[in-house]
Amino acid sequence: MTAEQTPDPDLASRRLAAESLAKDDPTGWFEELYAAAGEGKAVVPWDRGGAHALLTEWAETSEFRGDGKRALVVGTGLGWDAELVADLGYDTIAFDISPSAVEAARQTHPDTKVDYVVADLLNPPAEWRGAFDLVVEIYTVQALPIELQPAASKQVTAQVRVGGTLVVIAAVRTEVDGRPVSDDVVQGPPWPLTRAAIDAFAIGDVRLIQLEKQPSPSDPTIYRWRAEYLRD
Ligand SMILES: C[S@@+](CC[C@H](N)C(=O)[O-])C[C@H]1O[C@@H](n2cnc3c(N)ncnc32)[C@H](O)[C@@H]1O
Repeated sequence: MTAEQTPDPDLASRRLAAESLAKDDPTGWFEELYAAAGEGKAVVPWDRGGAHALLTEWAETSEFRGDGKRALVVGTGLGWDAELVADLGYDTIAFDISPSAVEAARQTHPDTKVDYVVADLLNPPAEWRGAFDLVVEIYTVQALPIELQPAASKQVTAQVRVGGTLVVIAAVRTEVDGRPVSDDVVQGPPWPLTRAAIDAFAIGDVRLIQLEKQPSPSDPTIYRWRAEYLRD
């Protein structure tokens, strides 16, 4: 098979996303993709087979230890980041809007201590509000259309308890002459985050305490944000 004939692993996800967005259902395609992947008919393009490198680095260099404190992992996918958080000693809940993703996470980590649950970031369980010492959000807000992102980031922040930490990892919106390209130019998903979108997680008592912009090891033209916030 020539390179031109090699199937594009992202093709199924792009097609499902386009169909879902055309039906004004911006999140329906996640379940369709995970279900198709479970039947071997698609691949999950963001499955890294391990925790995100920037989260791993953060865990190795920070003093964070769970010691039974509570953590929430947003849009957990196959659960690799949630497993790392649980290994730090956090009593961890990890959620995803896709029931097939949650099932796949449980199957991928059969001995897990993580509580994998189905939930919608845009309408999370009321009892989660302000209940977590650590909240980790990686690539979920950017997977939602730009008009939904303010509501999504607000909900991410809302789950952090007083004294708690929020870690956000996201792709950086493409910049031209140091300025992010405008919303209407971005052909998502994903819809990478601007600096303003990173600042939007800092609501009320939650403030941004550290922000890094790092190139991707696989493609140095792509940058990722790693942001850490604290609720005073
Ligand atoms: C791009 S993937 C990233 C998955 C994982 N965080 C990672 O970095 O590998 C986005 C994930 O968010 C989930 N998701 C999308 N919208 C969501 C919502 N409203 N509530 C909860 N999960 C959502 C998707 O099902 C998907 O697993």
